[in-house]
Amino acid sequence: MNVLILGSGGREHAFALSVSKSNLLNKLYIAPGNAGTCMCGNNVNIQVNDFEAIAQFALKAQINMIIVGPEDPLVNGITDFFKTRHDLKDIIVIGPSKAGALLEGSKDFSKSFMKKYQIPTAQYQTFSKDNIQEAISFLKSLKPPYVLKADGLAAGKGVVINDDFDATVAELKEMIEHLKFGEASAKVVIEEYLSGIELSVFVLTNGTQYLILPEAKDYKRIGDNDTGLNTGGMGAVSPVPFADEDFIKLVEKQIVIPTIEGLKSENIPYLGFIFIGLMNVNGKPYVIEYNCRMGDPETEVVLPRINNDLIDILIKTHKLEMDKISLSVNPQTAATIMLVSGGYPEKYQKGYEIIGLENIEESIVFHAGTKPENEKTLTNGGRVLAITSLGKDIQEAFQKSYKTSTKIHFTDKYQRSDLGQDLLKYKK
Ligand code: AMP
Ligand code: GLY
Repeated sequence: MNVLILGSGGREHAFALSVSKSNLLNKLYIAPGNAGTCMCGNNVNIQVNDFEAIAQFALKAQINMIIVGPEDPLVNGITDFFKTRHDLKDIIVIGPSKAGALLEGSKDFSKSFMKKYQIPTAQYQTFSKDNIQEAISFLKSLKPPYVLKADGLAAGKGVVINDDFDATVAELKEMIEHLKFGEASAKVVIEEYLSGIELSVFVLTNGTQYLILPEAKDYKRIGDNDTGLNTGGMGAVSPVPFADEDFIKLVEKQIVIPTIEGLKSENIPYLGFIFIGLMNVNGKPYVIEYNCRMGDPETEVVLPRINNDLIDILIKTHKLEMDKISLSVNPQTAATIMLVSGGYPEKYQKGYEIIGLENIEESIVFHAGTKPENEKTLTNGGRVLAITSLGKDIQEAFQKSYKTSTKIHFTDKYQRSDLGQDLLKYKK
């Protein structure tokens, strides 16, 4: 198999490392990739939304499978682009159709999908410029904190949670009338606030069969003790101690099965990952959001726990032979910590040299925002490296990652120092 991975983050490096170990692999390419992915295969300088350039490269390099990392090309229809072109249709694209990607691309769509298929989620209504007064009345009927969500993709920033009614109304107007998040906030979902503890469950599916992968929990805020701005994720851990077997069974029955059935009933083709963001409310799962891809940095803790040949799993998924997959999951805990550029998630500098990447023994260092230059590795993004370690428990796994971090240096390096602490009170 010749495989092309699309994307350039830690998630794609994690995919690249797993794919590079496959017995079924011939050549691996990553577009555009980073300074880590080029240690697993060849980086190709093509952007993920340049479908025509991807197609030309795929034909030239005789690519058999494309794994799509980020949501953007999926929401933009890369899978349909390949399926509807005669010369490309035999290439297996791991990533849903444009219709399937709407589970992430439109909150209004995903909420109405959940309502239709009775999948537990927060009560909601959707509003636009035509019914702002009704939106305000609906807000009045809710208790604070108030939750506003831009309908479309807003680079992870489209959710606003506020305790103050007047500030929420002002925010709502900013979103709908002044298009704070562009066209993405022309429609806004207002929903009930759910109080609980979050985790994510990952499902691989072909639209008919499915496999539940190891669950994970990420740390979204920039500061210790979950303070400060939201980020793409400052760390993650798998397994999650409060997600016991009974809870995951409930997730399967109430969420995973009706989601797959719903996709089938709506005739939505879906070959790929579904990332289900959940709130555990007193032991009951509620869907906070769907994503049409794997998470970052969740992938950096999920894939290192899977012992199977990843390409074999993906081929069997494509061939509707998921019943032949016997998933082997490492019972150890995987923990990752993100090293980020000072200033992230706001303004930060790029181009600093990263020192100390050689001789890492206890951890796997996944590159996120890095680029190779003249034998050096330079910072090239907000999230720079994800350090993953396996350990007998949460404490040991994070300790190893923190120890590895002390060996790696770049100007203005920042990391959270409390990762995993909140979970020590749970036993698994
Ligand atoms: P989303 O982009 O939908 O994942 O939302 C971003 C974050 O906002 C989530 O990870 C939650 O922490 C929080 N959030 C979203 N919806 C709700 C809700 N209905 N109740 C409580 N928190 C929420
Ligand atoms: N870590 C959250 C995400 O990938 O969306």
